[in-house]
Formats: sequence, C-alpha cells, structure tokens
Amino acid sequence: MNGAEDTLLDVADLSVRFPMARKSLFGERSYLHAVRGVSFVVRRGRTLGLVGESGSGKTTTAMAAIRLVEASGGAVRFEGQDLLALDGEAMRLARRHVQVIFQDPYSSLNPRERVGAIVREPLDLMGIGASSAEREERVRELFALVGLRPDQMALFPHQFSGGQRQRVSIARALATNPKLVVCDEPVSALDVAIQAQILNLLRRLQDEMGLSYLFISHDLGVVQFICDDVAVMYLGEIVELADRASLFSQPRHPYTAALIEAAPSLARRKSAGYRRGGMVKGDPPSPMSVPKGCAFASRCPRVADRCLEEKPELRPMGATLAACHFPLG
Ligand SMILES: Nc1ncnc2c1ncn2[C@@H]1O[C@H](COP(=O)(O)OP(=O)(O)OP(=O)(O)O)[C@@H](O)[C@H]1O
Ligand code: SF4
Ligand SMILES: [Mg+2]
Repeated sequence: MNGAEDTLLDVADLSVRFPMARKSLFGERSYLHAVRGVSFVVRRGRTLGLVGESGSGKTTTAMAAIRLVEASGGAVRFEGQDLLALDGEAMRLARRHVQVIFQDPYSSLNPRERVGAIVREPLDLMGIGASSAEREERVRELFALVGLRPDQMALFPHQFSGGQRQRVSIARALATNPKLVVCDEPVSALDVAIQAQILNLLRRLQDEMGLSYLFISHDLGVVQFICDDVAVMYLGEIVELADRASLFSQPRHPYTAALIEAAPSLARRKSAGYRRGGMVKGDPPSPMSVPKGCAFASRCPRVADRCLEEKPELRPMGATLAACHFPLG
C-alpha cells in the first residue's frame, strides 16, 4: 500500500524564510532562506528521516510542517486536512495528534516539576481522561510503556540519567496518543549504548501504537537503523529522497555519497576509542545568498559548467529522487 490512504502527513513545496534586520532604515530587507520548496510524505506507521549537516534546515522544516514555525509558502496536509489553514481552536485540537521529542530533554523538561506532573500536563491541558484518577492511571501506564517505574514519578528531572530523561520526554510526548511524533535528534546527546536502548524503545512504541515518525538526525548510522525512507537536505532543500535500502546501497546525489563516505561505520562506532564521525569537507554557501545553480557546486567533485548555471530539480532515478545534473550511476 502506498496510496493516499497510506499517507499521514503530506508536505508540498514548503518554504521558510527569516527576515533579517535591515542594515539601514531605507535599506532593502534581506532574508535567510532556511527551507526552500521542500516536499515529502510521512506514511502511516513509518519513519521518514531528515538528514543533513548543521544548518541545512532539518529542524525548521519539521517545525514548519507542524506549525511550530511559520511557513512562508507551501501546503501541509495532515490526514487530508490543510494544517496551515486551520484556525486557532482547530489547530489546538490537531496538536493532540502531533508531538515532538527534542535532543536535550534537560532543557525541554521543567526542572522544578516532578516528572509525574510533567508527563501528566498534556492530559490536563487537553482535557483527556474523565477524572483526575483516570489521568493518574494513564501516567502510570505511560511510565510502564517507556520502561520507568511508578515510584520514579515523584522524582525531578535532574535525578535521572540522560537516557531515563529521554524516556520521560517520550512518555510526555505519547500522553495524548499522537499519530505523528517529530523526533529532533533524540539520541544525539546520549552515549552510544544508551542510544541503542532509546532507538529500540522508539521502534517498539512505533509497532505497538502505529506511530509515524519524522526523524531528524545528522547521524547516518542512526538513520540507517530507524528510518524507512530518508530525505537528504542541503542548504534548505531536499537533494535526495529514497527508501533506506536504495539510499545506502546506491546513493545518487554526490552529497549523499559524500555523507555516507564520511560516516563512521556501525562496527567502528561500537569499537573502543570511537570518536564522533567526520563530515563532508568544506562549508555550504550562506542561506542569505543562495547560488543560482546547484547549491552543492562549491563542494562537488563532479561539478561542471552547467551546474553553476542551471539549478538541478528533483527527478526520479529508479525508486530514488535526486536533484543533480550528473547523478551517480
Ligand atoms: N528563528 C530563526 N531566525 C533566523 N534564522 C534561523 C532561525 N532558526 C533557524 N535559522 C537559520 O535557518 C537555517 C536552518 O536552521 P535549522 O536549525 O533548521 O538547521 P538544522 O539542519 O536543524 O541544523 P542543526 O543540525 O544544527 O540542528 C540556519 O541557517 C539557521 O541559522
Ligand atoms: S548538479 Fe553538478 S554540482 Fe550539483 S551535485 Fe550534481 S554534479 Fe555536483
Ligand atoms: Mg536542528
């Protein structure tokens, strides 16, 4: 099944630009183009990965797709509903179906609240559960679901390890029984062994609850473990979109190939003395002045004259979409 009924979130031609301060009173307003014409689909019960180096627009894309950042163009459909057109009250109701898990649970969890209350808060805000006792019971269930003990409900965030704190934020995100969870680098701050535990937990929860994930990571090993489909972002655009197997076995875009080349293998990252992996050489252009041709041209080993003149559009190559004039065979 891969038709409309299989689609939970449909993002079309999404753009986000941030206005920059004017240099003078009558000067022209300039913009930072964080997301430029991005389209993708998140399927029901599946995981779409967004990968790319720092500043490529992963977080802004995800946040604009769920209206936590204002889009400057494009359309978003959630279960067929035009999300960007919903009024305040309708959007408040839709929020229940869409939750976020952040990289650093320490800064996203209120340090002065007990974690039981933190997990319970969305239930109170959304008026979920018939009574206070019912909500309390739901919090217990959520704790069990993420592998925490009920007596831990009375503790504060700082009394947990990083992995356990991430379990708390997962419990909180799942409190309203969402359909889509945006996971923004959820394991990047954790030790490798703990990363595996949290990723396994996310996979199990997906199976049990039929969750869809929009999963942001700069770590290809993590992406390979958890994602069904992968979108590679560069300077605010998707340059390659493919199912996991195609992407890793036959990358088409030179940037994807370079990312894979630079990524430490899963075997190496488990070995003693592993240090966080290499990145592609060089820096991307500024999102304040996007080049007219291919944005990757300044770093691409295959660059030719045409690349500097003509912007490559995403086009199909087998099961893959790639935006390159001279894709890899
Ligand atoms: N509120 C904002 N105002 C102005 N510029 C912003 C804002 N948020 C993000 N940006 C810029 O937009 C671009 C994309 O940023 P974004 O945080 O989406 O990238 P990212 O891929 O998530 O990076 P990272 O891996 O570091 O989290 C960057 O150039 C960033 O500086
Ligand atoms: S269009 Fe040209 S510069 Fe851009 S990725 Fe392809 S070969 Fe490289
Ligand atoms: Mg980010």
